[in-house]
Amino acid sequence: MQVYGVNELRKMFLEFFESKGHLKLNSFSLVPHNDNSLLLINSGMAPLKPYFTGQEIPPRNRVTTCQKCIRTGDIENVGKTARHGTFFEMLGNFSFGDYFKHEAIAWSWEFLTEVVGLDPNRLYPSVYENDDEAFEIWNKEIGIAPENIFRFGKKDNFWEHGAGPCGPCSEIYYDRGEKYGCGEPGCTVGCECDRYIEVWNNVFTQFNGDGNGNYTELENKNIDTGMGLERLATVVQDVTSIFDVDTMKAIRDKVCELAHTEYQVDTKKDVSIRKITDHIRSVTFMASDGVIPSNEGRGYVFRRLLRGAARHGRLLGIEGNFMAELAKVVIRESKDGYPELEEKKEYIIKLLNIEEDKFNKTIDQGLNILAEMEKELEKSNKKILAGEDVFKLYDTYGFPIDLTKEILEEKGSTVDEKGFREAMEVQRVTARSARGTTLLCYQRWTSCGFRYYNDQRC
Ligand code: ALA
Repeated sequence: MQVYGVNELRKMFLEFFESKGHLKLNSFSLVPHNDNSLLLINSGMAPLKPYFTGQEIPPRNRVTTCQKCIRTGDIENVGKTARHGTFFEMLGNFSFGDYFKHEAIAWSWEFLTEVVGLDPNRLYPSVYENDDEAFEIWNKEIGIAPENIFRFGKKDNFWEHGAGPCGPCSEIYYDRGEKYGCGEPGCTVGCECDRYIEVWNNVFTQFNGDGNGNYTELENKNIDTGMGLERLATVVQDVTSIFDVDTMKAIRDKVCELAHTEYQVDTKKDVSIRKITDHIRSVTFMASDGVIPSNEGRGYVFRRLLRGAARHGRLLGIEGNFMAELAKVVIRESKDGYPELEEKKEYIIKLLNIEEDKFNKTIDQGLNILAEMEKELEKSNKKILAGEDVFKLYDTYGFPIDLTKEILEEKGSTVDEKGFREAMEVQRVTARSARGTTLLCYQRWTSCGFRYYNDQRC
């Protein structure tokens, strides 16, 4: 099989679907537009929801994109496993009331086997348990033997992500061979090990879900497909994980260079290397889309990822700021698909430096204090760090609660989240009443021409 780079695969996919009458659109921003159900865009279809529901008219009934996505649901596993990540690119072809199952299935097969050149004998489709129509298409039109088509239930083959358009789906798995397998007798498509990995998801979007299990039929039948670009590259490049594909390896290598270390020498260091490699991609792209670090919403996600990466930099012995150096590699590797990265390079670097500087002032002290707190916990045989301590680390040393939690969980402890929220509330109320006093003084000063301080004329 010919080996293609991430940038080549992206181009091949988009050109293939353009040749099938699709309009190629640039990736939408990571910041959702008119959609309060999401903090960050998490799939190719998310920015296209109004076209699926009929709220807006699409520029064409067939569209193809490569969408930047962030998912933080599994953030605690990022780095620990070789397959989790927060940032990824999703390739997709979409039909808004135009073609349906026949074309979607045929084109996914054609792209994988004829354009990319994957071995058809290693590909296995799955369908939703009672979707006989999709089963027949795979069997009669594509020629897959019935025993090689898998039927799975709602957990695997019904796609929905919160509220919005959703439906049964048909996935395509690739068999990476025994060397990636668990070797268990029952190991086959659907096994949790790394042998059979899902590369493509064809969703037959027929319903609108309210997020609580209630569905209404959409006026049109639509197609929403998704293929993780890094995942596809993992298969095509026959490498172990997403951290080994060309564009991500370039970042990983830079992390190793800055830390004067090598990958796959020390398993603990590998976790840090992978975390930084992943997180720098998320924050670089978020910065280019105008997200600013803060203590809330997407700004919090940004801050938590950047500070998490900064802490892992410390674990690797990197001193001073290093995120900007890595962001330059992200930009170099991805500007082909996302020219905005190059256009906003200066701004991105400035923003990362400001945020990193801020954290650098307190990180070492915070880490020392947390180490002391951990010792105390151990001494008293406790496993939960008190809310006030977590709050102190947050308020004085800029440690997002999830970072403190992550650090503690590495050693089997955790944080008192409720206690933390209570300590936050106490501070909020205190700050509000302090602001109230100031306001009162000011009002009294302006209204009578005298200046009062705590009700005393001065
Ligand atoms: N929306 C589907 C997914 O994200 C294609 O897997």
